[in-house]
Parts: sequence; C-alpha cells; structure tokens
Amino acid sequence: MLNLQIPSATTVSSLRARIRSWRDERLTVGFVPTMGALHAGHLALVQLAKAQCDRVVASIYVNPAQFAPGEDFEAYPRSVIEDSQQLTEAHCDLIYLPTTEVIYPEGFATSISVAGPAEGLESDARPHFFNGVATVVAKLLNQVRPDVAVFGEKDYQQLLVIRQLVRDLDLGVDIIAGETVRERDGLALSSRNAYLTPQDRQRAAQLNRILRQFAADLAAGKTVPQARQTALEACEAGFDAVDYVEARCADTLAPLGDAALEVPARVLAAVRLGSTRLIDNCAALPS
Ligand code: PAF
Repeated sequence: MLNLQIPSATTVSSLRARIRSWRDERLTVGFVPTMGALHAGHLALVQLAKAQCDRVVASIYVNPAQFAPGEDFEAYPRSVIEDSQQLTEAHCDLIYLPTTEVIYPEGFATSISVAGPAEGLESDARPHFFNGVATVVAKLLNQVRPDVAVFGEKDYQQLLVIRQLVRDLDLGVDIIAGETVRERDGLALSSRNAYLTPQDRQRAAQLNRILRQFAADLAAGKTVPQARQTALEACEAGFDAVDYVEARCADTLAPLGDAALEVPARVLAAVRLGSTRLIDNCAALPS
C-alpha cells in the first residue's frame, strides 16, 4: 500500500465513490491521463484542468497495449512517489492508480481500432500504438466520466485521434489541448528525455529549431515539398535517423498538396538519437 500525500484510488469502485461525492455537491470534474514520470508539461495540463473544473483527477498507468515487443515498456521511468508529490503541489484532487488487473482483467478481449488521423506518421513506425492508446483512453474516460479531459499538443497526432474517438463513440467529454512546455533551448519536455546522454541532449534541441524554420518557410510562401526537403535535410544532418518530417492539415492530418500552404497546417517530426526517439510538432500558418 503506497502512502501518498493526496487521496488515491486503485479500483473503479473507489474512484467512482470519490467522484460520486463530488457530483453530489454538483462539482465539475477534469481528468488528466498520464503514464507517470511527471514533468512540468504534465503539471501544466493539471493546471489547465484546474482552471476549467472544480476537481481534477490524474491517472498514472503505463499502458502495455501501446508498446510493441522490444519497445521501452519495461524501462519506462516509474516514479509514483515523486509524481504524487508533484501532483499535490499542483493541487490535483485525486490520483487514480489502476493496476493491470483493473484495466485489462483476465478475459479482456476488446480493442478499439482507429483510422483517420491515426493513419501514417507515428503509425508507420509504431502500428500498434494508437489502437493501444484509444483502448486505454476509452476505458479511463469511461471509468472517470469527467466533464473535461486534457491532452498535450506535444503528442499532436494522439490529440486528434482522441478527439476523433470521443466524437465517434459519443463519449460526452470535452477534450482540451494543452500547449507543449519546452526547455529554454526549445526541447519539448518528455519523460523519455531522461534516456538522452548529455551529448544527445544538446543535439536534441535542434528538432524544435528545424520545425520552426519549416513553419516559417511555409509561412513565407515556399511550396510544401520545398520547405519539407529543407527540413528533412536538416534532420538527416542533425540526428541518427529520421522516421518522418511532414506538413499536414492541422485539423485532420490529411496530406497537403504540392503548392504553397493554403490552410492552417501542422509540421511534425520523429527522429532518433541513439536508442531515444524524439517527436515534436508546431503550427504553420499560410502567408
Ligand atoms: O500520452 C500519454 O501519456 C499516453 O499515451 C496516455 C494518453 C496516458 C494513454 O496511455
């Protein structure tokens, strides 16, 4: 039994009992799902939920279904005590810590299959990923039944997949996007940054600079293929491998044509430094 500083629930019944007591007082509930190893980016999502709702639940669950064999499920950083201290300081009201028996009980046989914004980009390298995310998020949303749930723009494709999931399954929750929180040199905060060696940590900051230049080139009227080629060459020069560098329609992630930008877009990239995979994205507006 963990001795945490704020109320916690590990079962659906204890979670719902606490939420029912808030509902009896007509309080609204915000939800921030996480995999733990919290940083300032997560805490900003909690603050956003706090600004929208009377009470906030944060969940910590490292979801095996979104990791393929050979990915970092075992190595993924786990730090529940430090996380709970940070959530206490952020005035979170309840930590939900489900076990795998609660999320995937014996005999569990359902998986949500997502398409639309889930196609391409992350799915090319991690085909299992969004079905795993959608299944756990649908389950968590149904367990918590919040008014509002907050997801970071750092995982922009995930954000759009979740919006689509909520629309398609009538889950009845408002999805709010939290801006990416960055280090001073532009590196997007991520739990996986902890894997970077000091040298790779220095190199990692290039990713945001390259994406901002990509967006600036599009805003200046360069065609999508021209601007993309410059960004691709910069990524190839700066990183050990490049999974993708793309500009896509901001609302749907549909591919753009070969002309200059005519609609709001998002530029997105995934690159590798040693065994660490970095993803980032930023907005690109037409001139
Ligand atoms: O973004 C994350 O941390 C995870 O993908 C999420 C949404 C908590 C689902 O496991």
